[in-house]
Amino acid sequence: MRVFAGSSNPDLAKDIAHYVGKTGPSAMMRKRFSDGETYVRIDESVRGCNVFLIQGTSFPTNDNLIELLLMIDACRRASAHQITAVIPYYGYARADRLIDPDRRRREALTSKLVANMLSTAGTDRIVLVDIHSPQTCGFFDIPVDHVYASSVLEKYVRAKGLNDIVVVAPDVGGVARARAFAKGVNDSPLAIIDKRRDGHNVAKVLNLVGDVKDRTAILVDDMIDTAGTICEAAKMLRERGARQVFACSTHAIFSGPAIDRLSSGVFEEVIVTNSIAVPPEKRFEQLTILSIAELLGEQV
Ligand code: R5P
Repeated sequence: MRVFAGSSNPDLAKDIAHYVGKTGPSAMMRKRFSDGETYVRIDESVRGCNVFLIQGTSFPTNDNLIELLLMIDACRRASAHQITAVIPYYGYARADRLIDPDRRRREALTSKLVANMLSTAGTDRIVLVDIHSPQTCGFFDIPVDHVYASSVLEKYVRAKGLNDIVVVAPDVGGVARARAFAKGVNDSPLAIIDKRRDGHNVAKVLNLVGDVKDRTAILVDDMIDTAGTICEAAKMLRERGARQVFACSTHAIFSGPAIDRLSSGVFEEVIVTNSIAVPPEKRFEQLTILSIAELLGEQV
């Protein structure tokens, strides 16, 4: 068995390799040509081996996706027995349906396209973490294991021993996720926010269904990207009388204005996982990062 680390999240890959009893990921060389093209070379024999490639596809999404495809291709050409792509964050997960508001239907279905590319490159099995919509697993015609990192977040929140919790879905699409989370956190009540988007990356909160007054509100989302969704939601919860507001999210994309928004004091704590590597310059006082290395190690 071999574990290889792409460049998206080397620390997580190292922890997964340790968890499965390796001293570290196997050797692999990657470099960038001056025109921006990527080069990958596997530096250990993989002939007849079960190979696990740890590579998320975010930041920079396209570069990390291409690198993963090259890793898969290199292993396939080197006669690996079985290739599993462990993708802690699946970029383009939100492009899982045609959403053009003008209904012209001339968009790309990128999430499906990426699934096709991964299969065509030679992947035998995929491991995904808290995918935006579970039906994305159906885009693949190869086995997919969908791992729920929310279990790590729930355990952490339970251990905090907070009182009067209400779990809040920041939009209608996140209700099933928030309901499952609420169940995992002492069967807490649920509230739902009605969010609309005026355009890509612009979140507007409209209404709140449920009671948050004098409660500890825990906003649950699969990802924090620009942090517009979660911060608008938090502001509304404060206005409606929530005593404390926490954010729990698996994927810390943290793009654009995210850090300024998240560190503005609207949250008691922002709890995420290491599915995406958070560089030191994006860390702030209220941030807690939980590890999913064991969870993924169990898939290897
Ligand atoms: C949307 O459906 C997702 O679950 C997230 O709420 C959203 O993508 C977060 O994006 P942002 O942080 O940019 O508002």
